[in-house]
Amino acid sequence: VRPANHPPKDAVRRAALAALALGALAVAVGLPACVDDGTPRGLYRRHCARCHGLDGTGNARAVGTQPGLDLTRSELAERGDVAAIRRRIVAGEGTMPGFGEKLTPEQIDALVALSLELAGAAPPATGSAEAR
Ligand code: HEC
Repeated sequence: VRPANHPPKDAVRRAALAALALGALAVAVGLPACVDDGTPRGLYRRHCARCHGLDGTGNARAVGTQPGLDLTRSELAERGDVAAIRRRIVAGEGTMPGFGEKLTPEQIDALVALSLELAGAAPPATGSAEAR
């Protein structure tokens, strides 16, 4: 009886594993908004979205009084002022904290590129490899 019993057991185990994998995938796809998954978007969600909004258009409650929160209309990005954007992210300004201590230069590069992308501006010539 035993040998004949083996294949079905394996099939059941395989089906269970497949179900587990699917479940894990569903969890990964449905990540909550605040999760930093290590991508530039993940970094943004973790460090920037609470003020600049998930889609970059600015925290809905604050953007009315602080239109500068809307990164899709960033003046710096429209001017293509990569250095100023980088400085802003590294050092902060006003109520925006600086991230120079928290993030690596590569992560900051990725966020500079993402800031440009949100505004529909061209990516910087260098340091944007991981942004896309
Ligand atoms: C605590 C709120 C807050 C957080 C967190 C924050 N910012 Fe800001 N950010 C601001 C404010 C406020 C301004 C200035 C708006 C203004 O000048 O009117 C600003 C301005 C900017 C600008 C300049 C836009 C322009 O053209 O003037 C960029 C770029 C920017 N932020 C990117 C980021 C990125 C990237 C992150 C995450 C690493 C981040 N910010 C996190 C509040 C925040």
